[in-house]
Amino acid sequence: MDMELLLDRYPGIPWLREKARRRIPHFAWEFLESGTGLEALIDRNRAALDAVRLVPRFTQGAIRPDLATNLFGRTWSAPFGIAPIGLTGFMWPGGELLLAAAARRQGIPFCASTFACETIEAIGKAAKGHAWFQLYTLADDTMERDLIARARDAGMSVLVVTLDVPVASTRERQRAAGIRDGASGRGRMLQALMRPSWALATLRRGRPRFRIFDKYARSVMEAGTRFLADQRVGEIGAGKLQRLRDAWKGPMIVKGVLDAGDARACVRIGVDGIVVSNHGGRQFDAAPAAIEALPSVAEAVAGKATVLFDSGVRTGLDIARALALGADFVLCGRAFIYGICAAGEAGGELVAHMLTADLRNNMIQAGAAGVPDLRRRLAR
Ligand code: FNR
Repeated sequence: MDMELLLDRYPGIPWLREKARRRIPHFAWEFLESGTGLEALIDRNRAALDAVRLVPRFTQGAIRPDLATNLFGRTWSAPFGIAPIGLTGFMWPGGELLLAAAARRQGIPFCASTFACETIEAIGKAAKGHAWFQLYTLADDTMERDLIARARDAGMSVLVVTLDVPVASTRERQRAAGIRDGASGRGRMLQALMRPSWALATLRRGRPRFRIFDKYARSVMEAGTRFLADQRVGEIGAGKLQRLRDAWKGPMIVKGVLDAGDARACVRIGVDGIVVSNHGGRQFDAAPAAIEALPSVAEAVAGKATVLFDSGVRTGLDIARALALGADFVLCGRAFIYGICAAGEAGGELVAHMLTADLRNNMIQAGAAGVPDLRRRLAR
């Protein structure tokens, strides 16, 4: 794959986004893009990231940023990874496998969602040691324990427990696009036919479903959204977190923290990392921009837990901003989905390449060789 040729076509994430919008059906696009309510938080995430300014310095000679990042005793080629995105295979057929392979090639982690369309085993095989597993806690304890054991057996090294879905949020845009409880709404067939490359790829891969759950559901049809809506338990108390902590021997991260008190409570339970995130603006429209919440959470857990960040990242510069404000590592969600919807597996690699090159370039612009320098460049 010639990166330069791909970059000629898609110089940045906005170009991939536009191509993705034209390549996948309207309902899949709305699933990917939607927030909740009036969707103010999506804009707030972006505006707050844009407002983070770094003051460049030029008098120190050549700057050669080293992007290799150690996380939980392992070195990744850059300080970012791929966030868990449920139903990735619905947006692009086989998407989880494409992203797992892209992550492997680029030396970054790929976090598989509980609601993936591919099995844990298939993702683990494609990722070859580059996968993490995101857990939504389930009503059925036996099934939940089995999922965790499968993730471990498939070589997934980090357990990511998502906290910020205490209840399903309203997704007005999704409903308007005909997505409700997995029911095939009116007009979906027509929308699909208008996107021939998506329709063909979907025919080849088979109707998207939660293959992770095939093992437990009495029939494939049962492993639909409604089955999972009944299974997912949103409220996660300290007792539940503690049980998960005790059950998982490797690094455990909680995802969706915006409050310093919550972060401290998680550290007391013994989690290894905290993802400061508002779920890409999809859950609670009154929440602060994740980047606004980052400094206080980072300060609350400094030295006791690794700090990760997501929500709204579209450039390598955004990654630099998050690192400057206290993150040790960054996750990117939609950006990678735009990549595979626009350009398949090459798209996943292209996004990783773009973010890495942009991060490196902007660190040089800022005069920062590493994270401590970036923190000193923050405009106050
Ligand atoms: C998500 N996110 C998410 N998070 C999670 O823990 N489990 C999941 O299954 C999903 N599913 C999901 C689907 C879609 C379509 C989106 C857009 C997001 C949230 C995700 O992991 C991450 O927090 C955000 O996507 C980060 O924001 P950006 O990078 O998309 O702006």
